[in-house]
This record gives sequence, structure tokens and C-alpha cells, in this order.
Amino acid sequence: MQYSGTKQPIVGKIRVNIDKLRSDTPGIAHCINLNNAGAALMPASVVDVLERHLRLETQIGGQAAAMKRRDELEAVHASIEGLLGAASGSVALMTNATRAWQLAFYGLEFRPGDRILTSRAEYGANYVAFLQMQKRTGCEIDVIPDDESGATDAAALDDMIDERVKLIAVTWVPTNGGLVNPAAAIGDIARARGVPYLLDACQAIGQMPANVVELGCDFLSATGRKWLRAPRGTGFLYVSPAMLERVEPAMLDHTGGRWVSADAYQLRTDARRYETYERPIGATLGLGAAIDYAMSLGIEEIHDRVGALAGELRTVLSSRPGITLQDLGSVKCGIVTFSHDKIPAEAIRVALARDNIFVGVTSPEGTLLDATARSLGDLVRVSPHCYNSQQDIDAMLSGLDALLHTSAAR
Ligand SMILES: Cc1ncc(COP(=O)(O)O)c(C=O)c1O
Repeated sequence: MQYSGTKQPIVGKIRVNIDKLRSDTPGIAHCINLNNAGAALMPASVVDVLERHLRLETQIGGQAAAMKRRDELEAVHASIEGLLGAASGSVALMTNATRAWQLAFYGLEFRPGDRILTSRAEYGANYVAFLQMQKRTGCEIDVIPDDESGATDAAALDDMIDERVKLIAVTWVPTNGGLVNPAAAIGDIARARGVPYLLDACQAIGQMPANVVELGCDFLSATGRKWLRAPRGTGFLYVSPAMLERVEPAMLDHTGGRWVSADAYQLRTDARRYETYERPIGATLGLGAAIDYAMSLGIEEIHDRVGALAGELRTVLSSRPGITLQDLGSVKCGIVTFSHDKIPAEAIRVALARDNIFVGVTSPEGTLLDATARSLGDLVRVSPHCYNSQQDIDAMLSGLDALLHTSAAR
């Protein structure tokens, strides 16, 4: 099946050239990917970089190939810093968002009675780490209440802070819906109260503007494969100048901390202290290419288009019998989640995948506190990116309608 439609009636404010976007995306010839919150289709420029590097490694071996690409590799840090409005030397390359988050979190010290404040829709991996830290140290985990829209309540957070609070750790956009938490307002409070702030930006980076100065965060973790459209096995960690003064990574190798004598190492002064010597060079170059591509389109432009496609989806889905939208918050992004009163989420995913239409499923354990509070089961997660067309959305909806029809007829 070939999907290459160019008709774009739904998006009022298009400032990106959709035809160009689609011709830059080889994967659209093979599938309709509406699972960009899971893994997006890479642009051709990213695939080229990967293929070129693989060929070079085939010809001259991995180390010589990395030497040849030294300048391009150096430029990847600068690309990430440009994306985040971050100072030079403030980002570390990672293999994924969870590892980035863990290296930041486990480098912090907690004592019995210290408090970690977090969001109700916190990501599962993060919360398990809180629980492990609680078991190890006797620290406490306190969940910041939501406001009436379902977003983390910044005012309530302010009221919760006392001298025992050692960390504010929240997820900007949760894995289970379009909610956009007020990350910058939380940053203002963290800064004013002098509490370190760890922001899980995994589902935000690439689909919305992100400036670490405006966000006021001390650490920010992100992945490459989702909204940035980079290869799998890539991610990064931002570290603020204040944290670089105070904190060492949970683990160090002899490049993050140079081994200078039998009984001493010298910590790198920049965020690269969080890196290790070995890394996937081709994928890292691909991450740089993906960021450069996104920046050339404009993150604001991507944000507008993703928001328009997701808004359209929400409107249409909410009119379908049996479907309940599950996104919280007054500010929503490109992740749309829903449940059906009879058809399990996995059955919807499988039925659409038969036609090469890919959506995701999010399970309660990804955001257990939120799922428990709202009695959520598995949800269908549809996440359009800027390269998706009106026809992609229509094809997904007609596949869904066929399924709803069959189920109603039974
Ligand atoms: C909110 C959030 N944080 C972190 C992660 C983990 O990202 P990664 O798989 O790159 O470690 C995810 C993945 O779905 C996520 O949704």
C-alpha cells in the first residue's frame, strides 16, 4: 500500500511545507505511523548519516571511523545545546532517556526523612527509582496534587515545600496522554525555593519548544527516537551550571573522571562527566542530524502542526460511540489517548497494524498512580507527527470505524 496524500484541509496554520516533509520521510511509503510517542519515522537525512557511517565502519573499522567523524560528533553536543537554549558544555549524550534520568537522580544524596516531590502522572521507571531510593535511605516520596484540569498544581507544590524537600522531579508530558504539565511554573518555584529540579522531558522534546533557562530545571532527560525522529539508542541529559558545581554522576568512568594518579581522579568540569567512552557513533551522528532537521523546520512550526492534527483527532474521536478520550489538562499536546467501552486497546492496535497503521498502547504500569486514581486500563495512544497527513488520520479513523462497526454488529 502506498500512502502519499497531499490534501491538507484540516490544518489552518500550516507554516511547514507538507509535501517536502513527506518526501523527506521514506517510511511513509510503507506505513502510516501514528505512534510517534513510541518511535517516529526518521527523515532521509538521518538515514543517510546512519548508512554512511555504517559503510565507513565496514570499510575501516569502528574506531578509525569515529576519528574521521570527530568534528561532526563534536557538533552533536552543540546541536542539542542549541535545541535547548543551553550553555556550551551542559549536555551529555546518552543511550536513552531513562539512563539519563537515572544518572542524574542516583547522583543525588538522600537521608532519612528527606522528601522527593513528584507528579501524579510520573513515569514508571522514575517512580520505581524513588521507591528504591526510599528503601535504601528512608527518604519520603510525596505526590503533588493535580489542579482541577488534571495538571500538576504548581501552587500546591509551593505550599508543600519545606527544608526537608531535596528534589522536585516531575514529568512534563506523561506517557499516557496529551497532558502538558506546567514545567516552567514548577521551575520558577524550584528556583525561588532553592530545590533541585529534575524534569523528565522525554515526551516533550521535539514536539514543543523547550528552553532550559525558561524551564528553570537543573536536570532534563530526553530520548532521540520519539518526537526528535532520531535513531533508537540515543538520548541526552542536560545539567545546570549549579549542579555541575555540586554533583557528581552516580557512576563515572575514566573519561568523566580522568584517572590522574594511583589514588585520584579529576572530574570533568562539564556535563560530559555523565558520559562513558563507548557510544553508538552512527546513531549519535543520526541524533545530531535529526535535531538539525527539526531546527530547520522550526520547533514552533512542528508544535503547531502536531497540535492541530491531535486536536482534530480529539474532536473526531470524541464523537464516536463507546470511545472515551483520556487526556487530562487544559494544555494538551500531540499524544491522544482513548479507551473503548467494549474493545480492548490491544485489539484496536492489532487490527490497525494489519493495515500497516501503527498506533501505541499505554498500560497502567507506565503511570500507575494516575491509572489507579482514574481506574484506567490499557489505553490506545495515537500520536501524529508533523509529517502525518490528513489522509493518515482518515485512514486510521476508517480502520477504527470498521472495527467499531463489526463489534456493534456482534
Ligand atoms: C515520560 C517518559 N519518560 C521516560 C521514558 C523512557 O524513555 P526511554 O525509553 O528512552 O528510556 C518514556 C518512554 O516512553 C516516557 O514516556
